[in-house]
Amino acid sequence: MRLQFFLLALTAIPVLSSYPFNPLEHSAGIAPYFTPHDPPLQSSPPQGCNVTRAAYLIRHAAIYANDFDYETYLEPLVKKLQNTSQDWSSTKTLKFLSNWTAPIDQEHVEKLTHVGLQEARSLGTSVRQRYKHLKTPQMIWSSTADRTAKSAQAFIAGFTNNHTSLINLTQVEESKKAGANSLTPYKSCKGYSSSYGNDQSSAFWKTYTQPILARFNAEAPAFNFTQDDITAMFELCGYETVVRGSSPFCSPNIFNSDEWLGFEYANDLMYFHNTGYGRALSPVLGFPWVNASVTALNDDSSSQELFFSFTHREVPPTVITALGLYNNSAYSGANNVNTTMPEDSINYHRAWKSSEILPFLSNIAIEKMSCQSYGYEEGEYYRILNNAGPQPLVGCRDGPGESCSKDKFHDFIGKRGESFGDYNKACEVTDLPSSLSIYAV
Ligand SMILES: *[C@@H]1O[C@H](CO)[C@@H](O)[C@H](O)[C@H]1NC(C)=O
Ligand SMILES: *[C@@H]1O[C@H](CO)[C@@H](O)[C@H](O)[C@H]1NC(C)=O
Ligand SMILES: *[C@@H]1O[C@H](CO)[C@@H](O)[C@H](O)[C@H]1NC(C)=O
Ligand SMILES: *[C@@H]1O[C@H](CO)[C@@H](O)[C@H](O)[C@H]1NC(C)=O
Ligand SMILES: *[C@@H]1O[C@H](CO)[C@@H](O)[C@H](O)[C@H]1NC(C)=O
Ligand SMILES: *[C@@H]1O[C@H](CO)[C@@H](O)[C@H](O)[C@H]1NC(C)=O
Ligand SMILES: *[C@@H]1O[C@H](CO)[C@@H](O)[C@H](O)[C@H]1NC(C)=O
Ligand SMILES: *[C@@H]1O[C@H](CO)[C@@H](O)[C@H](O)[C@H]1NC(C)=O
Ligand SMILES: *[C@@H]1O[C@H](CO)[C@@H](O)[C@H](O)[C@H]1NC(C)=O
Repeated sequence: MRLQFFLLALTAIPVLSSYPFNPLEHSAGIAPYFTPHDPPLQSSPPQGCNVTRAAYLIRHAAIYANDFDYETYLEPLVKKLQNTSQDWSSTKTLKFLSNWTAPIDQEHVEKLTHVGLQEARSLGTSVRQRYKHLKTPQMIWSSTADRTAKSAQAFIAGFTNNHTSLINLTQVEESKKAGANSLTPYKSCKGYSSSYGNDQSSAFWKTYTQPILARFNAEAPAFNFTQDDITAMFELCGYETVVRGSSPFCSPNIFNSDEWLGFEYANDLMYFHNTGYGRALSPVLGFPWVNASVTALNDDSSSQELFFSFTHREVPPTVITALGLYNNSAYSGANNVNTTMPEDSINYHRAWKSSEILPFLSNIAIEKMSCQSYGYEEGEYYRILNNAGPQPLVGCRDGPGESCSKDKFHDFIGKRGESFGDYNKACEVTDLPSSLSIYAV
């Protein structure tokens, strides 16, 4: 009997080779929205707790491509494909290229895709479900870019079941003079450059693309694949999927899972030095939203219980660092920032994974909860969710479900402010607003 059961259980265990690797969950900033499985803490409120308020910062939904990717990688590859003597039908894995047409043209660059808009509506619907006991917010915020504002509008449609007049959208200028008082604080920060991280990422990527280049050039010698072509092909898996729903570039016959992990790491290196722990500036850029959100969640005079704001991919990672999450050095007893992200080999055990931090619609939330939970003092607790997954704060997890008690949380935020509250100094500017006040309505 027992042996029989054991055998039955054995057959139900998937064999190793069937491990479902999904390249879209390793595509960094070009990933359709997904909720990661790690850590496996439960997303619903802990036993005995109710959420009483919440604040969300959300990256815009899926776009056809951004300017940089389009001009640097995608368009050159598409042009090259249109004018090549290579006969694709004679290749092993690239036959589809004889009939493949580009999903993106110049006209659609930076625009939201239909899939993206649908995902933003769905996110609105699921967030409404999560907080059905809370008041519909009167206002939602976005930066002024077309893609952030339209993402917010689609979210409102989903949240209100198309009764969009229930919520007003306030657009916050992406101004170079707004300092920290915007949803795009990096824009007026002289200490920030969008090119940070490119050097580290390129150094790594150059080595890692060599075997792929050699393979493709052996298969299709007339095309003369370059490193940028390879980058374009990795990127097309995500971009074509958010346009057409699927892409031949995601096939395991094109890039295997090890190669995807290389692509992901190249991106992680870039974001690590651009808006992550590799740069001391990052938490300073993320702190204003954290501070303003905590203030809004504490303001009992405000009738608004839910706060949603839409921005660009630069901001969620800085908020992650301001909160000390996804920190490779955490629990290591040291803070050797750059040694945790070598440029010549992959640290597979890093915490910093851009695919989890900034896919399209990536969202970070602060939930305030009222708890009467076994074994814990009755009172208010806070927790952080990244794409609906709870992320316990380092040194601030004394509450139910690894949440943080009110007083400890306020101490924690206060300390972060002492370290990361000086926007003007870190940004090498003078007299710009150093805090975010858009929620003070
Ligand atoms: C097409 O390829 C040929 C041969 O490589 C080249 O001479 C020509 O300039 C290319 N045309 C375009 C439009 O890129
Ligand atoms: C490409 O399209 C042609 C004409 O429709 C078709 O005969 C051929 O099988 C297609 N090739 C591939 C690789 O799908
Ligand atoms: C939206 O703004 C308009 C104009 O200011 C105002 O009349 C309306 O009451 C607002 N709606 C909500 C839901 O706050
Ligand atoms: C809301 O509007 C969208 C887009 O116009 C439409 O697809 C959807 O069916 C509508 N939903 C409801 C419940 O009317
Ligand atoms: C292949 O491309 C590289 C980089 O663009 C170029 O330098 C090289 O001349 C090309 N080789 C051939 C055989 O076309
Ligand atoms: C990351 O973790 C290390 C080790 O605990 C710590 O010293 C450092 O302050 C953390 N970084 C941030 C920005 O929180
Ligand atoms: C980490 O690397 C970045 C970029 O090279 C550099 O600006 C920073 O100073 C380094 N951090 C440390 C602690 O060495
Ligand atoms: C949570 O909400 C439920 C249902 O409204 C209520 O019965 C319970 O007392 C609340 N618990 C706390 C701790 O507020
Ligand atoms: C943090 O918020 C408080 C209001 O609660 C404000 O006085 C302070 O200036 C803010 N600091 C930063 C750095 O945003």
